[in-house]
Amino acid sequence: MSRIFTWQEVGQNAQNGWIVINDSVYDSQGFLDSHPGGPAVIINKAGKDVTRFFKDIGHSNKAHDILKSLKIGEIDKNSKPDIWQVDQNQKLVAIT
Ligand code: HEM
Repeated sequence: MSRIFTWQEVGQNAQNGWIVINDSVYDSQGFLDSHPGGPAVIINKAGKDVTRFFKDIGHSNKAHDILKSLKIGEIDKNSKPDIWQVDQNQKLVAIT
């Protein structure tokens, strides 16, 4: 059974490498060091919807298979996404 997460929960787990692609929530933490594009590109955008970035790269079928294995649930579509930015210490903070 799939778990449902709010955008707030996903944001709170940015440091843990949680990302959202097409309304699914993925925990990328265990994969970060093996990412061919490097961990930074993912971690810099973690806690947010990265659908556009993931698609723009034109990720392969293999990448999509790996993605499937990282799925932890789905986004609660009634929750509101916060807007995040990276502060001067490279920490994700909500824009209020
Ligand atoms: C958990 C999510 C992701 C997985 C499983 C994943 C997987 C992969 C894989 C397997 C490759 C090697 C090429 C390929 O097979 O397509 C790759 C390359 C790449 N990925 Fe990701 N990726 C993820 C998220 C992202 C995100 C969010 C970004 C950008 C914000 C990104 C940027 C890149 C870039 C730039 C490369 C090209 C590296 C190069 O060839 O120099 N990836 N990724």
